Amino acid sequence: MNVAEAVATRFSCRAFLDKPVDPEAIHRILDRARQSPSGGNVQPWHTYVLSGEAMDRFKALVQSRLPDNPRGEPPEFSIYPESLKEPYRSRRFKCGEDLYAAIGIPREDKPARLRQFARNLEWFGAPVGLFFALDRSMGWNQWAHLGMYMQTIMLLAREEGLHTCAQEAWSAWHKTVTEFLSLPDELMLYCGMAVGYADENNPINQWRTDRADMDEQVQYRSP
Ligand SMILES: Cc1cc2nc3c(=O)[nH]c(=O)nc-3n(C[C@H](O)[C@H](O)[C@H](O)COP(=O)(O)O)c2cc1C
Repeated sequence: MNVAEAVATRFSCRAFLDKPVDPEAIHRILDRARQSPSGGNVQPWHTYVLSGEAMDRFKALVQSRLPDNPRGEPPEFSIYPESLKEPYRSRRFKCGEDLYAAIGIPREDKPARLRQFARNLEWFGAPVGLFFALDRSMGWNQWAHLGMYMQTIMLLAREEGLHTCAQEAWSAWHKTVTEFLSLPDELMLYCGMAVGYADENNPINQWRTDRADMDEQVQYRSP
């Protein structure tokens, strides 16, 4: 698989097969992803891998806390600006609408939408979950570099025949994650990532997000 194919075939997979992932494949991905660039080569990422019994115990812990915390824990950071302006607001809205339409959940059916959102907390059935954390002393610049590292992981996963879904949803469970992983105080959870084999037949994996046209995103300043 070349890079263009990895980019083209990556999508946010929200239903995984109950099929184990070879730990060696995860190791290869994370080993190769170390080559990701970062300003000053500070390599600000800290990655934690969950699988097997640890994954089962973690999921059980989250489920045991869910009834008392249906919205998760008070966030440490805002995922979106308080007021998302155009065109970003409409793009976000469309993404949500398209997702729920793909699985036949109408706009009015809030409980069904919440149930689907809660699938995040089951890693969408993925056998492997990654957590990414940053040193609290880091600024927004280093957060961007962690994002580049995460994208490298997502593309390398394609080469292994695996799919992924980045999951900011886990930031609403930062206390539980911190406790479970025994994260040191100086680290702050940013994001999770589900990794596994896609259930290609599941309707939630059969739609694709669109993208703004090139002329909305790219401006050439050539003569
Ligand atoms: C950092 C990051 C966090 C994300 N968090 C979530 C999440 O918590 N749950 C989810 O279902 N999708 C999540 N997504 C997936 C985005 O919705 C998705 O990338 C976007 O809609 C584009 O679709 P695509 O990834 O299928 O190309 C996240 C993506 C990124 C890059």
